[in-house]
Amino acid sequence: MEKNRGTWSSRFGFLMAAVGSAVGLGNLWKFPYLAGENGGGAFVLVYIVLVVLLGFTLMLAEMTIGRRAQSDAYGSYHKIRKGWGFIGALGILAGFLILSYYSVVGGWVIKYIVASFTGTGADKAVYFESFIGAPVEPVIYHLIFMGLTAIIVIRGISGGIEKASKIVMPALFGLLLVVVFRSVTLDGASVGLEYYLRPDFSQITLKVVIAALGQVFFSLSLGMGIMVTYGSYLSSHEDMEKDAFIIPSLDSLVAILAGFAILPAVFAFGFKPTQGPGLMFVTLPAVFDHMPLGSLFSGLFFLLVFFAAISSSISLMEVTVSFGIDQFKWSRKKAVLIFTTLMFLIGIGASLSLGAWKGFQIPWIDGKAYGIFDFLDVTTSYYLLPLGGILCAVFIGFVWGIPAVVQEIKKGSAFRTEKFWTVLIKYVVPVLVFLILLSTTGLLEI
Ligand code: PFF
Ligand code: NA
Repeated sequence: MEKNRGTWSSRFGFLMAAVGSAVGLGNLWKFPYLAGENGGGAFVLVYIVLVVLLGFTLMLAEMTIGRRAQSDAYGSYHKIRKGWGFIGALGILAGFLILSYYSVVGGWVIKYIVASFTGTGADKAVYFESFIGAPVEPVIYHLIFMGLTAIIVIRGISGGIEKASKIVMPALFGLLLVVVFRSVTLDGASVGLEYYLRPDFSQITLKVVIAALGQVFFSLSLGMGIMVTYGSYLSSHEDMEKDAFIIPSLDSLVAILAGFAILPAVFAFGFKPTQGPGLMFVTLPAVFDHMPLGSLFSGLFFLLVFFAAISSSISLMEVTVSFGIDQFKWSRKKAVLIFTTLMFLIGIGASLSLGAWKGFQIPWIDGKAYGIFDFLDVTTSYYLLPLGGILCAVFIGFVWGIPAVVQEIKKGSAFRTEKFWTVLIKYVVPVLVFLILLSTTGLLEI
């Protein structure tokens, strides 16, 4: 059946591709600055709790849907129950919007590979701000990142995705450990360590919970059918329960390590932990300045971040593209070219919104207004992905139905956490995420 879809050449290949999708800018760039903005340890704690409650649960749910239906995100839901394809369609929309601005940040990373050797000046914050606010240069880097993503996706599933992830992930992990070591041994790092590790419970506010929830979805690539798409290439022998444990664990490990690499240094150098998206780009160059062979380490580090980012962007593009292939019967090449062009154009807007177009604000249902970059981030992380998560849980628990789902999971292996998982997916996930989503809109005040 559907031979031209391809399957994973090995279990390791699947795992690495899934980890490759999960581990990306979300871990290295976003997690540390969100932790910095949201009370440090308080954020880390809430994040971990949500990964345990929601991350594992939804990861397994999505993979199961894909493996059962063997189709793209939209087609899989539709195949299992007519009329439910819209869940997948929502996810495809989310992936499309995410990649539009993800690629802009991916471009920043490429710039910083170059800047590792040309220098970032004495004031790292000024360097970063003036770069991202410029009208042309960041757009060119965005084009390079998007173009590279497109080339890899055109080459097809096992050729492009698997090969890259197998080497990059272990290398990134190793270099991250080196940077963590340098960061935590800086003079004055202990204040940052304390901020990062000791949760101040009075800091656990609704804002922190909302930020952590969005980040769980974003970081684990959940709520938008990525894992449905990836699961659709799985054989029925696969132990998906184990995979759904390994992938979130590795992803969280990398995120937490990234925080260790960045937050102690933020305090050691007297930067602001609350400065937002610039945190990694401002802090790490300062850390590398304090290392022997700093430019070399810096170049290598940003190169690995780039690879991590591109293995995520590949997966983002894969959801959209496999939708085009499966539903419109487009060729892979045509699908990639059409979607790439659209996302590139939206990304130009996102990039400009940090400079020339700063004044252009889009009103949103929470009563606030956002520039294009933030708008794409907020609508996806805090609305579309959680909504996708709720719908996936409802679909599993009440539409497809637990008995049939469990039967599919058990095809590949024993299902050790069956009872626990059933309660989580049927009740805890939908109710919890719904409550948080409502409070995000401002409709519910807790
Ligand atoms: N999980 C990726 C990261 O943490 O960088 C980003 C991402 C990839 C989000 C794929 C969503 C997705 F479907
Ligand atoms: Na991630």
